Amino acid sequence: MSALLKVENVTMRFGGLVAINDVSLSIDKGAVLAVIGPNGAGKSTLFNVVTGVYLPTSGRVTFDGAEITGRPSYDVVDRGIARTFQSSRLFSDLSVLDNVIIGMHTRTKTGVLRALFRPRSSRREMAACVERAERLLKLGSGDLFEQRYRPAGTLAQADRRRLEIARALASQPKLLLLDEPSVGMDDVETDALVADIERLRADNPELSVVLIEHDMRVVEAFPHHVTCIDYGSKIAEGDFAAVRRSARPGGLSREGGRPCLS
Ligand SMILES: Nc1ncnc2c1ncn2[C@@H]1O[C@H](COP(=O)(O)OP(=O)(O)OP(=O)(O)O)[C@@H](O)[C@H]1O
Ligand SMILES: [Mg+2]
Repeated sequence: MSALLKVENVTMRFGGLVAINDVSLSIDKGAVLAVIGPNGAGKSTLFNVVTGVYLPTSGRVTFDGAEITGRPSYDVVDRGIARTFQSSRLFSDLSVLDNVIIGMHTRTKTGVLRALFRPRSSRREMAACVERAERLLKLGSGDLFEQRYRPAGTLAQADRRRLEIARALASQPKLLLLDEPSVGMDDVETDALVADIERLRADNPELSVVLIEHDMRVVEAFPHHVTCIDYGSKIAEGDFAAVRRSARPGGLSREGGRPCLS
């Protein structure tokens, strides 16, 4: 099977700092890849390169058969890659529902003029967007749907993370990139997050997910493809057991939920 996403020999330098050093990885359709590594290892930078936030210093990114290296983010979303961010990027003053609807903008036709004059076709499109956004809010654990008219900024932390995922799904992605989705969640919420991702994959067997995680409980739940990055370089790859074995003394610790690699 040819890979859906291929990152080939990517290096990203910021001045003298090498944030990613010659990293290659790939993910097939329908697979889950967990990317782990200590703080500052280069994990989020990798997402930023894939999603066109940064043009890598060297290397190639290919998605769904086309090269996307350095393509602008709106084009990357349009091609089917959606992401969440490590720190919340929600519009806090807008409602939960509006935050999801905003995630649909690459799939809708209504522009500024149509929004102003509101022809029947735009009103129909808007009604369909609301219906689809409500469906997405009902998908996950928690009660986001009941909270849909609240400003997103008033949500509890776990609900904010869930809303970010719902917004990413609104663009109907083929590949979902989640940057530390369990941050700020307790054990019960983390288990619910794992169940949400499993349900999502069961409903969309072709959806691929790359997840950056510090919490080994989440990584263990999707144990087949794990890539470990340290100081910008890939230091281990394989299933969870193999990566744990090849980790340096100390192994992958569950204590404190952080991978311990030194
Ligand atoms: N825009 C930037 N300009 C300069 N340095 C950057 C930039 N973005 C990231 N870095 C640096 O690149 C390195 C990798 O950062 P990155 O955010 O990718 O790490 P991370 O693995 O996601 O860490 P964490 O687990 O803390 O989120 C760090 O040393 C960081 O300071
Ligand atoms: Mg990060």
